[in-house]
Amino acid sequence: MEGTSLYLPIVLLLMQCSPSAPVTVTTSKPNVEVRESSDAVLSCMFRTEKDPNPRIEWKKRGKDVSFVYFDGHFRGPFEGRATIDGATLTLLRVTQEDAGEYRCEISAPLDTVSLGETNVTLKVLVPPHTPSCEIPSSAVTGSLVQLRCKDQQSIPPATYTWFKDNQLMSQPRHANATYLINSQTGILEFKVVAKEDTGRYSCQASNGVGPAKMCEGKHLTIEDVNVTAIVAAVVVIFLLIIVCSCGGLLLHRNGFFSPGHRGRSNVNYIPPPQEPQDFKHTQSFML
Ligand SMILES: *[C@@H]1O[C@H](CO)[C@@H](O)[C@H](O)[C@H]1NC(C)=O
Ligand SMILES: *[C@@H]1O[C@H](CO)[C@@H](O)[C@H](O)[C@H]1NC(C)=O
Repeated sequence: MEGTSLYLPIVLLLMQCSPSAPVTVTTSKPNVEVRESSDAVLSCMFRTEKDPNPRIEWKKRGKDVSFVYFDGHFRGPFEGRATIDGATLTLLRVTQEDAGEYRCEISAPLDTVSLGETNVTLKVLVPPHTPSCEIPSSAVTGSLVQLRCKDQQSIPPATYTWFKDNQLMSQPRHANATYLINSQTGILEFKVVAKEDTGRYSCQASNGVGPAKMCEGKHLTIEDVNVTAIVAAVVVIFLLIIVCSCGGLLLHRNGFFSPGHRGRSNVNYIPPPQEPQDFKHTQSFML
């Protein structure tokens, strides 16, 4: 009883429309999400007024609109990689390139309204790959330290969790936490790193598609002073001293600092301008 009353408006509507009922095209699933390299079913159902053999076409909208199925054949990258049942398409072993917007077009030239269409969006999901982790090997106490974790490929984008010595680092809630984790960007940040933060760090990427992946852990050492930098500085200074003293010695040997060659020539060189004066003097004296 309830069923009839429910269907009644629809039946009335159909009767009303029936003189000019256009070709109707629908899909049971306008948004399809499948994992990479599995099969995707793009549903398309149609009903025509009287045309028993409507034309079925599938197109894909990318930069341009390209044919997927046309004139009874699959086209381009779908050749030999898709099947059709009625107007419902099955794409086999989908890749990232197959993701996009598809359109099922039914044209029934014998119908009064001869064209109908429906859209199906295909999203190809990619499970996480092993993330790349940037973990410094050492840092100085009190400095700001960032550890980064990234998996570029996963779809939808991965979220990240960090582990210290194989223990999950929970997102700290209180204000004076020593670190912050951004699960979206994958950055673990120590505002003021402390000696206790020394440990082996690793990061995990997950996106709900397939198993989560973890990068290989790396050891981070927090030191009061940067021992490596100090050793390097001492070596540089030592080398500088050696270079300077050797250079000085060489210059000394070549007489750069002794009042030798040039000094003496300078001494010889100053008198001449005075000599003419002296000469003049002597001349005048002679006169
Ligand atoms: C399908 O998508 C095209 C392009 O975006 C749009 O013009 C058209 O109206 C859509 N059709 C339906 C039935 O939603
Ligand atoms: C935060 O720091 C203050 C002062 O350093 C300390 O008294 C308090 O216990 C800390 N709170 C937590 C939750 O660690």
